[in-house]
Amino acid sequence: MSLLALRDVTRTVIPQDQPALTILNGVDLVIEPGDHVSIVGRSGSGKSTLLNMLGLLDTPTSGEITFDDRPVKQYSAAQRDRLRGAAIGFVFQQFNLLPGRTALENVTMPLLYSTGRTFWRRKKMAADMLALVGLEHRLNSMPDRLSGGEQQRVAIARSLVRGPRLILADEPTGALDLDTGQSVMELIDEVAERTGAAQVIITHDPTIARRARRHFRLDRGVLTAVDDPTLEPLTRRDRREAAAPDEQPADALVALGLADTERGDA
Ligand SMILES: Nc1ncnc2c1ncn2[C@@H]1O[C@H](COP(=O)(O)OP(=O)(O)OP(=O)(O)O)[C@@H](O)[C@H]1O
Ligand SMILES: [Mg+2]
Repeated sequence: MSLLALRDVTRTVIPQDQPALTILNGVDLVIEPGDHVSIVGRSGSGKSTLLNMLGLLDTPTSGEITFDDRPVKQYSAAQRDRLRGAAIGFVFQQFNLLPGRTALENVTMPLLYSTGRTFWRRKKMAADMLALVGLEHRLNSMPDRLSGGEQQRVAIARSLVRGPRLILADEPTGALDLDTGQSVMELIDEVAERTGAAQVIITHDPTIARRARRHFRLDRGVLTAVDDPTLEPLTRRDRREAAAPDEQPADALVALGLADTERGDA
């Protein structure tokens, strides 16, 4: 039984007054429970588009996506949102923390719509999660008082507080220095191992990619398995773009359940 499977998934968009553009082309990818997959690819190759597919934020133009072997298109939009909230944790390059809220409040947020025991225990669960990411002494800190690495840890705690079965990360270390990036990746590994969650990591960085058990490369929308991502050629343009964070996609806010939440200036 697979956790999530993409079968011959294609995504085409038709920009205004322009010919159709195929962003994903015949993508096959099966994620097993507890899997650890990395995907590298140059800027514009379709990585974020693929992540949106894996996160049930977008639907294919053709092909099929199944979650727990059930076709996702059988779910209503509301069921898909519920499934995403309960089963998938997103980690993005930008941390998207709510600025006027403490670390604890930020991590408590995904639990606000839960019911029963989880709702009543939400603060304890959030505090435990922050302790797990090594921030037990920062519960009441505002995001602007935290370093980039600490903010990413809060964001990770928030993504994982509901115990997702799948962790999807899009350039999780893109805004961090090398060492902080490594320790953030170790942290995600540790949580995934402890909870049995599967991970899909999208990255420009071949050394981050290499940490995964299975490696893929996306090239102009075509996904292929590779043996060793550190041997894959990266152009100078890739490196420059890796260093420059791109704009936060609007979908990120939906993924994080923040789309309807008030946001101050980051
Ligand atoms: N809705 C859309 N309409 C038109 N073009 C789109 C749309 N969404 C994505 N694209 C184009 O599809 C290509 C792939 O985009 P995507 O964001 O998936 O790339 P990426 O691999 O994540 O790039 P990066 O590494 O810069 O984040 C890009 O050329 C992008 O401009
Ligand atoms: Mg992207």
